[in-house]
Amino acid sequence: MSILSGKRIVLGVTGSIAAYKAADLASKLTQAGARVDAILTSSAEKFISPLTFQSVTGRRAYIDKDLWGNEAHVLHVGLGHDADLLIIAPCTANTIAKLAYGQSDTLLTVSALASTSPLILSPAMDGGMYDHPATQENLDTLRKRGAYIIEPSEGHLASGLTGKGRLPETYELIGHIRLVLARGGLLAEKKVLITAGGTQEPLDPVRVLTNRSSGRQGYALAQAAMDAGAQVTLVTTPTSLTPPVGAEVIQVNTAKQMLDAVLVEFPESDTLIMAAAVADFRAKEVSNDKIKKEGGVPQIILEATDDILKAVAGLRSEVKRKQIVAGFAAESQDIFKNASNKLQSKNLDLIAANDISANDAGFSVETNRLTLIFADGRTESLPLMSKSEAAGIIIERIAALLE
Ligand code: CTP
Repeated sequence: MSILSGKRIVLGVTGSIAAYKAADLASKLTQAGARVDAILTSSAEKFISPLTFQSVTGRRAYIDKDLWGNEAHVLHVGLGHDADLLIIAPCTANTIAKLAYGQSDTLLTVSALASTSPLILSPAMDGGMYDHPATQENLDTLRKRGAYIIEPSEGHLASGLTGKGRLPETYELIGHIRLVLARGGLLAEKKVLITAGGTQEPLDPVRVLTNRSSGRQGYALAQAAMDAGAQVTLVTTPTSLTPPVGAEVIQVNTAKQMLDAVLVEFPESDTLIMAAAVADFRAKEVSNDKIKKEGGVPQIILEATDDILKAVAGLRSEVKRKQIVAGFAAESQDIFKNASNKLQSKNLDLIAANDISANDAGFSVETNRLTLIFADGRTESLPLMSKSEAAGIIIERIAALLE
């Protein structure tokens, strides 16, 4: 289940041209299982109608007039009061100023003042307004009071100017929401190091030896660890995926680069999850120039790469903190036996065995069917599930091992 599932989110929308993007945010949050109550200021209503929000959330959207209606006494404290989170996106300079001074002349600012839930502001405004000292000082005041401010993006502004002031993309806003909801989670204050993707070993400047790993399981683990409140470092090869918002990302190509990055990060980490499909062999000699057809079929001699988990196993006794190391076993036969051997030879606390012969599990698909094998001999067979669900379970098990 996603961290957004069942969460009560109040979405404040203010009068910016970016207000139309808030409808997409409301829709995506609702699709992820959140209960979204939208509150529009009267200037937001000039850009977008409450009906749009009602249509995508399936719930009534509130407007300023409701502050003076029959339910006003309930609404003005009620909306923000039982929320898990209040996000104002887009948030204009005007609303930022009102919030900084505790003004409460609209349903949204009243709700924000009466709310004790975490407050996220996503400022969006045109040329120069964001950088103005008045706005910056107001934001500082709000930050000091605990508000979480999302930096606006740079780029084209509605006025035609270019600058800082754009509302970030929906996935980024959702990433920040997840970060705030994850506070105090199972892995709060823990550092989690995750590798993802298939390494690429060059043969010449244009060709590489690689594998079918999409990186999905590793990225899903990174998101699940973030959702548990961890500080995540993702060591990744090039993939088509977007890393979770808030993760530190280290881009690598080869097994050697991945090894070097892991060895630097591991001593400071509470957990390492090696989800990457690391090349076992690379070309002994890499041609500086493109290998040409005229030279005939090349004879490529391979050599072994270092085993990253074995290198980490050698380091473990020197590291003073309690650490959990998990690996994956991509197997097409004798799955249990091969995975158990890897668990032992790589000195792991947990290995997730993957039957790559099935066409609905393993490389390049959305789902996985994993068997978890623990160092103490326990095993757990997970049914077919999405890689995100599998990631959530692995993170829970690791959190339990870290306790
Ligand atoms: N792994 C590693 N370094 C390597 C190769 C693999 O750290 N050079 C890690 C993988 O990230 C995975 C685990 O070891 O977590 C098992 O990887 P897998 O490819 O299944 O096994 P190998 O050890 O490479 O053995 P084989 O390919 O012979 O099955």
